[in-house]
Amino acid sequence: MDLHFTKDEPTADERDAVDAVLGAPESGWRGGARDAGADTRQVDGGRALRERRHLLLPALHALQGRRGWISPGGLNYVCARLGVPPAEAHGVASFYAMFATKERPATVVHVCDDVACSPRGAEELCRELERRCGPPGSTQGGHGTWQRSPCLGLCERGPAAFVQQAGRGREDASLAPASADALEAVLRGRDVPARPGEGSVPQKGDPELRLLARVDVADPGSLDDYRAHGGYRALRRALHVGAAEVLRELHDSRLAGRGGAAFPAGVKWKAVAEAPARPHYLICNADESEPGTFKDRVLMEQDPFAVVEAMTIAGFAVGAERGFLYVRGEYPEATRRLAHAIAEARQRGFLGPNILERDFSFEIDIRRGAGAYICGEETALMESIEGRRGEPRNKPPFPVHVGLFGKPTAINNVETLVNVLEVIAHGGEAYAGRGTPASTGTKLFCLSGCVERPGVYEVHFGATLGELVALGGGVRGGRPLQAVLLGGAAGAFVGAADLDMPLTLEGARERGATLGSGVVLVFDDTVDLKPLLARIAAFFRDESCGQCVPCRVGTVRQEEALARLLAPGADVLKEQALLAELEQVMKDASICGLGQTASGAIQSAIRRLGVFGGRA
Ligand SMILES: Cc1cc2nc3c(=O)[nH]c(=O)nc-3n(C[C@H](O)[C@H](O)[C@H](O)COP(=O)(O)O)c2cc1C
Ligand code: SF4
Ligand code: FES
Repeated sequence: MDLHFTKDEPTADERDAVDAVLGAPESGWRGGARDAGADTRQVDGGRALRERRHLLLPALHALQGRRGWISPGGLNYVCARLGVPPAEAHGVASFYAMFATKERPATVVHVCDDVACSPRGAEELCRELERRCGPPGSTQGGHGTWQRSPCLGLCERGPAAFVQQAGRGREDASLAPASADALEAVLRGRDVPARPGEGSVPQKGDPELRLLARVDVADPGSLDDYRAHGGYRALRRALHVGAAEVLRELHDSRLAGRGGAAFPAGVKWKAVAEAPARPHYLICNADESEPGTFKDRVLMEQDPFAVVEAMTIAGFAVGAERGFLYVRGEYPEATRRLAHAIAEARQRGFLGPNILERDFSFEIDIRRGAGAYICGEETALMESIEGRRGEPRNKPPFPVHVGLFGKPTAINNVETLVNVLEVIAHGGEAYAGRGTPASTGTKLFCLSGCVERPGVYEVHFGATLGELVALGGGVRGGRPLQAVLLGGAAGAFVGAADLDMPLTLEGARERGATLGSGVVLVFDDTVDLKPLLARIAAFFRDESCGQCVPCRVGTVRQEEALARLLAPGADVLKEQALLAELEQVMKDASICGLGQTASGAIQSAIRRLGVFGGRA
């Protein structure tokens, strides 16, 4: 096979960045990407190279981080090293928003203008930045450029910004709350001011907390402090009682997945543990890109060892020796802390070969996402780890049978995994004693928007929506509540009449809503919801992977219909009828959950809140 290289050569700096990820080439680099590709591929018919394809995204990140874009020469070098045709690698690179395939400044500031930052001044911030530094994409700001961004997972501190910085020794960083002064300074070459790590958990220190007990209390960089606060007791117990007993406890706990679909974790783990094909894999889904969601970020930044311990227990129970931790690309701090926790755990015998001197070995690889919401969908995430575009697979087969690299795979959300520590430490039945029979345990909610104290809150399943809002200090400034977006952009709006709704899986379902990833985004009476609906529609149009027609075309038509509705003189009933029809088609015929849920929030606002006047 001819890999079709262009003549472009990598710079020494680009080679250096890529070699730091892939290791130095065995035969050295003589120049000439075409020759290197051909030489190496002949060794074993290309098998060894294909097996390294999963290093494509890490290598692209290395190029992006060093030069600020993926140059043809740099791409050629990566392709030669991995035996991937450059046209294919270009297709992968161009899929991800964080990768630039055209030259651009080394500093790019992404300013969130999404649903939770909007009512917290994001529009005003963007306008001010435009006045000072020019429109998005321009370089009038000095060193860098800026652009608008979907939710950055920092909603409790909005308005938020994420700064991509390229160059040796320069790292990406986030900034929240972001001001025009701070962003202008960054665009003119100043360092990004450090973001305070703490303060996202207003309940901090409450003895009732389970999942958040260590957050802002224990030092997230210290394994000893983690252990002093109960860390690694669950792993010891798991290794002591054995994998079968861990699976039984998890079954008894009736723990439901916290990533959105609420699938029973015990059923998933048992299926993987019993799958005959080998090896088995474990994935922690830390892609957290649902607008309004930030709970996983807080857990990873403030309690990273808990994520590592929980993954180790999961690996033990499902018979996996290797786990992947797929972290959202816009979470640089979480990634750094997790990498530190993994290194510490390995050094102290909690990871690696013969963990705690038992006959069990487990390794964790971090994989950084690159700006694609769809990669939170479990099969798209697997494609991404394998070095491909994040396009969801058809199901069945399900990942428990045919998952990562075609092997049985358990994939769970960060919060789901951290719950496992509770299940194992206290027993499945004790765990199931909290919450309601159908929604067991405690739940993290991402409370944001127009509330006095935004943040991550932990409550027993069954607390009402009104109780949660009250826990957050109520609506900002004591204003009347207009609406709450539950479950994020893929969720649904509810109104003030729903404040008595119990926050349980069944309670939300009864009201035609969903808890989804735990978003509770509050809007007071001053917020105009119409432009927010247009923002949600733009989000789905932008994030659709484009693989299937109903979603690719439907999300475009939906955005267009909303634009017409926002314009004066719109035929409201006609546009609403079109939107309802689009919803039906996308729900019925889309391959994955993105297309199936792309209309939910918009339809709920029309039907339940009557946002455009005439109810459909
Ligand atoms: C478009 C889309 C985006 C998703 N994003 C995430 C995500 O960011 N994090 C997550 O844990 N699950 C996400 N999911 C759900 C996953 O597909 C999967 O159900 C989950 O990782 C399973 O873990 P759990 O059972 O522990 O919830 C998403 C699903 C869809 C359809
Ligand atoms: S529904 Fe949308 S995101 Fe999902 S596979 Fe189809 S085009 Fe891609
Ligand atoms: S960070 Fe802006 S909406 Fe989430």
